[in-house]
Amino acid sequence: MAADLGEIMEAARRAELLTSQLLTFSRRDSKKVELVDLSQLLGRAGRMLHRVLGEEVHLTIRGNDHPHVVQGDAAQLEQVVVNLAVNARDAMPTGGALSLALADVELDADQAALHGLIAGAYVELAVQDSGGGMDEFTRDHIFEPFFTTKSVGKGTGLGLAMAFGVVQQCGGTIGVDTAIGEGSTFRIHLPRVVDPTLVDKGVPARAPTTATPGDQSILLVEDDAAVRRVVQRILVHAGYRVISCASPEEALEYVEQPGTHVDLLFTDIVMPRMRGTELAQRVSTLAPATRILFMSGYAHLEGETSLAHPIVQKPFQRHDVLAQVAARLRG
Ligand SMILES: Nc1ncnc2c1ncn2[C@@H]1O[C@H](COP(=O)(O)OP(=O)(O)OP(=O)(O)O)[C@@H](O)[C@H]1O
Ligand SMILES: [Mg+2]
Repeated sequence: MAADLGEIMEAARRAELLTSQLLTFSRRDSKKVELVDLSQLLGRAGRMLHRVLGEEVHLTIRGNDHPHVVQGDAAQLEQVVVNLAVNARDAMPTGGALSLALADVELDADQAALHGLIAGAYVELAVQDSGGGMDEFTRDHIFEPFFTTKSVGKGTGLGLAMAFGVVQQCGGTIGVDTAIGEGSTFRIHLPRVVDPTLVDKGVPARAPTTATPGDQSILLVEDDAAVRRVVQRILVHAGYRVISCASPEEALEYVEQPGTHVDLLFTDIVMPRMRGTELAQRVSTLAPATRILFMSGYAHLEGETSLAHPIVQKPFQRHDVLAQVAARLRG
């Protein structure tokens, strides 16, 4: 049973990765810009990478002893690192070495031109594997969406296309040095944030994964029955009291009943008849103390949610939901 469950989890992880890659792809123009310390990011990703890579691949991370700050979307940049690591693992089926190295570089006009950049201060992330390398044809096509040399069900050809898009959004570039039998080195250059006063703000550390639910009540609104059940189970297991509704109308009916109390409204945004944003407004009017948290798989909703209510991006994992719910209930 453990083995079967392992397979199921692996399949789910793969589906999650694919979904988020497709979403990243389609929401290219809307980016979240925050300060990201790549050293911290690699530190955080390190443990997960060990798991992804398995025991046969030796991982080294260098240059993460001091901050390397860039601007971008931390979650997407982390996904880029994961995609590169997964590719490296696939290129080293019998094991090998993977090194991630960060460095501050100053590129003059000539050096910058080699990478399609303008002169300036950059952070370079070099991802080097000792795998089989690539022939010229492969090398020339790897960043194209749906280009893959992997068999059906193994690769979708979106990993590097996604990496390319994310890096470009940050104003950077990605390139590769490779030859058959000589491994591959991917190099990412991202504009460096040099102002130290900005650095101090840093990137907020990830919220703790253990919630302190007490007996707080959450009004959960989600029209997709499967998602609703999963979220409900996650929240109930964590000890929250959950009122689960399949529509905004049902949720309003509950709130309008005398004597009800809800600590948090946790609602999907895109639903038939009434959007989660409108529901949030109505609930706020009826019960102003209610905290609000959105969830959505769509990014083009950003304008709509500039109402200062945070949003949990779908697809999500258990700990994301719990961390964000706990943070919302606290603050
Ligand atoms: N480190 C590497 N060593 C050798 N070949 C690589 C490496 N990284 C990528 N490639 C080649 O580039 C192709 C495209 O990579 P990409 O990550 O975009 O898609 P994929 O890995 O095939 O599928 P997906 O990432 O969507 O699961 C791969 O199929 C592989 O042929
Ligand atoms: Mg890949």
